[in-house]
Amino acid sequence: MDRYVVIGNPVAHSLSPAIHARFARAMGDSLEYRTLMAPLDDFAAMARRFFDEGGRGANVTLPFKTNALRFAHEASDAACLAGAANFLACEGHRIRADNTDGIGLVTDLSANLGIALHGKRILMLGAGGAARGVIAPLLVHEPAAMVIANRTLERAQDLARQFSRLGDVSAAPLDATPGAPFDIVINATSSSVHGEALELPAGSVEAGTLVYDMAYGRSAAGFLERARKRGASTSDGLGMLVEQAAESYRLWRGKRPATAAVIAELRSRAS
Ligand code: ATR
Repeated sequence: MDRYVVIGNPVAHSLSPAIHARFARAMGDSLEYRTLMAPLDDFAAMARRFFDEGGRGANVTLPFKTNALRFAHEASDAACLAGAANFLACEGHRIRADNTDGIGLVTDLSANLGIALHGKRILMLGAGGAARGVIAPLLVHEPAAMVIANRTLERAQDLARQFSRLGDVSAAPLDATPGAPFDIVINATSSSVHGEALELPAGSVEAGTLVYDMAYGRSAAGFLERARKRGASTSDGLGMLVEQAAESYRLWRGKRPATAAVIAELRSRAS
């Protein structure tokens, strides 16, 4: 039976095994997908053992996404631009890295939430690994502008410089975002996950703005509640999680599972 894992630390909370079990059932595939906890200082040994023992593919979650890129023999443009990989596949004796987070976010925004990105003004909150992973796939759809706002301004400036050849990208501090209000505000900071309250930058939101948190469930609830109080419509990142998983499944197995029922079921389980 083909074996897959999601490697992380911690990883017990991961929804990926449940998502892939549903995909496999729907697609009539027989496969195994488990969590695999790697020691913080030795991702490579754990990953190597899994692939040496015949593992077909791995998703990789925090804090190992940059390790995963280094571990692979070759990497897609998406993974290189993101500087991180959430996807590994064994192809012959070689390991290939990819990054499906960006396509997961874009698919959730466009296919599930019905948001056309072309011509939109996007505010990206955060300039860490999560932001870096999704900026290029968003810019492919030619938004009018993207402002990256971060608590540490230099990190936003670094990212803006790096991606400026792909579109109109600029950097700002969290408390002074030029060009507000925005059509789409994306929380890519780790504040929700850490249970810290992140305030929306003043004036960034108006009625009709979509505020999206890449975290999901209870982690994202407070931030999104504050956004709704300002008149925004909101979404957490559950759809992104399922869409990145569907893209991983497609890359591994050549067919993309349907996602709507899986998203709906996970959402109803969480509420
Ligand atoms: P990740 O891979 O999850 O993006 P990271 O690379 O450590 O993790 O980046 C975390 C991001 O969340 C950064 O943009 C960080 O801001 P700094 O660069 O100033 O550290 C941001 N962040 C985390 N906690 C935050 C908080 N309480 N308020 C505002 N920004 C926060």
